[in-house]
Amino acid sequence: MDNFNYKKRELHVDKVAIREIASSVGTPFYVYSQRAIEKKYQSFSKAFSKLNCSISYAMKANSNQAILKILGNLGSGMDVVSGGEYLRAKAAGIPSDRIVFSGVGKTNEEIHLAISGGVRQFNVESEPELIEISRVASNLNVTVPLTIRVNPDIDAKTHSKISTGKSQNKFGIPIINAREIYAFAASLSSVKIVGIDVHIGSQILDLEPYRAAFLKIHKLAMDLRLDGHEISRIDLGGGLGIDYGLNDTKIPSHLEYGALVTEIFKDLGCEIELEPGRWIVGNSGLLISSVIYLKKGEGRDFLIVDAAMNDLIRPALYEAHHEIIPIAENIESSSSLYDVVGPVCETGDTFAVQREIIDMKKDDLLAFKSAGAYAAVMASEYNTRPLVPEVLVNGDKFLLIRARPTIQEMIDRDQVPDWL
Ligand code: LLP
Repeated sequence: MDNFNYKKRELHVDKVAIREIASSVGTPFYVYSQRAIEKKYQSFSKAFSKLNCSISYAMKANSNQAILKILGNLGSGMDVVSGGEYLRAKAAGIPSDRIVFSGVGKTNEEIHLAISGGVRQFNVESEPELIEISRVASNLNVTVPLTIRVNPDIDAKTHSKISTGKSQNKFGIPIINAREIYAFAASLSSVKIVGIDVHIGSQILDLEPYRAAFLKIHKLAMDLRLDGHEISRIDLGGGLGIDYGLNDTKIPSHLEYGALVTEIFKDLGCEIELEPGRWIVGNSGLLISSVIYLKKGEGRDFLIVDAAMNDLIRPALYEAHHEIIPIAENIESSSSLYDVVGPVCETGDTFAVQREIIDMKKDDLLAFKSAGAYAAVMASEYNTRPLVPEVLVNGDKFLLIRARPTIQEMIDRDQVPDWL
């Protein structure tokens, strides 16, 4: 996270001191570095420079319109998985021919929305969805480009909740049925097959499952071409893992990943589509929090902070590790083992167990690292806690890109029936 550095013993995002943002917006908040996002996008795209390649950022990772705009300005498309994401991408000015519509349960309304507003392609996940898309397209008198997402039955060797490429997962159509479904798709009016889609999971740290899946997709592409289908695009999904700071974890580089994709697919002459999410934004953001209390427990100390599981659910949901660092770099300070917890009334509201951290006291500021992806977007208002604001840093300036709602605004959203 090289845009996040200590200067004069204070953690900065680029040239802005986090303490300065904290005094302006209060804690907790998320902070993102525009430069980090730009650099990530550019280096990712460079890794595929030997291929005809397009990137559709998986906006589920972080869908703030400011982030979408940063990436859109660099030429990125968007991978969307709901009508809401589709409209958000459009609101951020992403041209519709750069929007890929993925997702396992697209509703009739969502299909209608995307066809009327324009879409680069649908990544279709089932036969009934294929029929629905064809029906809507035919009613609107247009022909819609699509790929079919294939489930290659490969174990991505990641957390079970974010593994998507095994036959027992709900995603895609089984690869063994692929030729049959492509033949069926070709028989439908109003849809046009343009390629194949695959996505085997997220936070993937081993390139071998990718290799195994991609070899299967390469073979399928050849077979489908022999069957007479146009296979001009291959969408390889996202999933490349990032460094969450756990010792002993070897992180594959995007260059190795790019080399693998290039080696396997270069002979096909297809456009290769990629849908990275976490890799672009994960290590481009922090969640900043402050200490409410230091509580002495029986045999352990609890650092109770003002961020909670509703602001960063990854530790509770996936046993995920996020590094925790102080905002004030106090190199002389001692360190101790703490359980770092939030104020929510669940034992699951625990960010770290017996983690060695620099000693902190009430009101000290701290940062959860790697919070640019799957943090703000997965937040909830559990315990009537307002959604945490988002701040974007660009060099020496910062701006609130989503404000903290007031508690009153949250309360006012309820409708109490007049019979009560
Ligand atoms: N394409 C498709 C079809 C996807 O389902 C996903 C992620 C991506 C691309 C982007 O994957 P990425 O490059 O970000 O790994 N909430 C979980 C991650 C869920 C990922 C869901 N799909 C987490 O916090 O780890």
